[in-house]
Amino acid sequence: EKGTYAHYMLKEMDEQPSVVRKIIQAYELDGELAIDEEILTAINAADRLYIIAAGTSYHSGLVGKAYFEKMAQIPVEVHISSEFGYNMPLLSEKPLFIFLSQSGETADSRQVLVKVKEMGYPALTITNVQGSTLSREADYTLLLHAGPEIAVASTKAYVAQLAVLAVAAYVAGKARGNAIDFDLKQELAIAATAISAIIDSKEEMEQIAEDYLKIARNAFFIGRNLDFCVSLEGALKLKEISYIQAEGFAGGELKHGTIALIEEGTPVFALVTQEQVALNIRGNVKEVVARGANACIIASEGLEEEGDRLVLPHVHPLLTPLVSVVPLQLISYYAALHRRCDVDKPRNLAKSVTVE
Ligand code: F6R
Repeated sequence: EKGTYAHYMLKEMDEQPSVVRKIIQAYELDGELAIDEEILTAINAADRLYIIAAGTSYHSGLVGKAYFEKMAQIPVEVHISSEFGYNMPLLSEKPLFIFLSQSGETADSRQVLVKVKEMGYPALTITNVQGSTLSREADYTLLLHAGPEIAVASTKAYVAQLAVLAVAAYVAGKARGNAIDFDLKQELAIAATAISAIIDSKEEMEQIAEDYLKIARNAFFIGRNLDFCVSLEGALKLKEISYIQAEGFAGGELKHGTIALIEEGTPVFALVTQEQVALNIRGNVKEVVARGANACIIASEGLEEEGDRLVLPHVHPLLTPLVSVVPLQLISYYAALHRRCDVDKPRNLAKSVTVE
């Protein structure tokens, strides 16, 4: 029940810190992060992981690729389920398929699962719904523990997916003896606290929505590396609930065409959480500002500069997506409210898409 909340989406965004904490607990064994031994064996037996998903889950899959490649050193491909099923790429010798789905009912993803099972490949479903179709039909399941997500726009399930993907990649990496020089449990707890701090400063996000999106017809979200993945999700959130045309872009790619769309006052949200590309993305911001863009820079503590609009608490560089997505969710929410949109039930959308 949404209780005193105006919308499920607001309630679900507020639950994000507790969801991350719940995941730490659910995946803890004798004080260490752990996943089921069978699943660990399946991950470490694979020569390549294929993450299959749609929408917001596809966006978390893109971050998951970075997690598995960096922590476990397993190559990963991420595919949109509706594309993969009808145009299968050349597969590796020992693939493991990972289906990411909040609902566990997405038909586009299910048709891929059916095909890869027919081909005899192992499959793991990461879902919020125990007993869902994708969970029942896969060999293994990892649960998101996010609690029911009612709002059509996915928020807490995205953050939960990132956390569970991080746990799986970390545990797999440790089991392989990879050098991982941080304690993920501790870093996830720090991320949960950082999310709380952002949620406690909602008025700031409301003001940003007012300042940047009040009269906007379109908006851009830019970032590099992990920030690019989050930019895609930020744009999707804004489109689906406020109906403002939005695009997420890799900062360096703008100049290859899309920059033609920048006009006087075009809102551009730029994420700066990745130190190795911080200067590059700031360069991209200068390029759009020079063409009249109204840039809103959201930077991590330690990377901030004078004039940035929002500074996010410092977290481990791999975990910044869990944190940086939250202001984007909130900004979208307030933009939708200003436009009197039906936040929890946007037009033309259903919570789970059970048709192909
Ligand atoms: C966006 C959204 C959708 C879903 C997509 C996949 O906010 O909710 O893009 O992410 O339909 O749904 P699941 O994760 O249930 O497979």
